Amino acid sequence: MKKVLFVCLGNICRSPSAEGMFRALLVRRGLEGRFGADSAGTGNWHAGATPDPRAQAAARKRGVDLSGLRARSVSPDDFARFDLVAGMDENNVEDLLESCPPALRGRVRLFTEFTASRPEGGVADPYYGGPEGFDRMMDLIQEGVEGVLAHLEALEEGAG
Ligand code: 4NP
Repeated sequence: MKKVLFVCLGNICRSPSAEGMFRALLVRRGLEGRFGADSAGTGNWHAGATPDPRAQAAARKRGVDLSGLRARSVSPDDFARFDLVAGMDENNVEDLLESCPPALRGRVRLFTEFTASRPEGGVADPYYGGPEGFDRMMDLIQEGVEGVLAHLEALEEGAG
């Protein structure tokens, strides 16, 4: 099974939203048995917390329930366990590359590489802004999860 780990700073806004949207896409396509997803934060302040209520509200508008997710921080073995480690912004990617074993660095990618619009710097942190930031975040995530699925499908084909 090919798996993606979505990573942001706190694991309460961007990466759990991406995890929830990706899982919903798998259900819509009937692919839950073939691909897996999780999310984590480079920081540990929110470990065990549910996603930010503003992220939950933005996801709910798109029919996605994030309430069952709980925050955790990135663990050293994540780089071996996940085929793709998608940092939501460039700072996340930098932090991930610092802790990633050199041989696995190719698995670490910027999430917005998989979007059509490819905004510079990645998905902006919506934590200190208003609700509109969360809707913009969700638009980008909706674009990106399609590209992430295509990437995992290509990896699966490559693996034979
Ligand atoms: P996230 O957003 O990285 O998308 O989960 C943030 C959540 C919390 C904090 C920063 C960003 N914080 O500083 O507590």
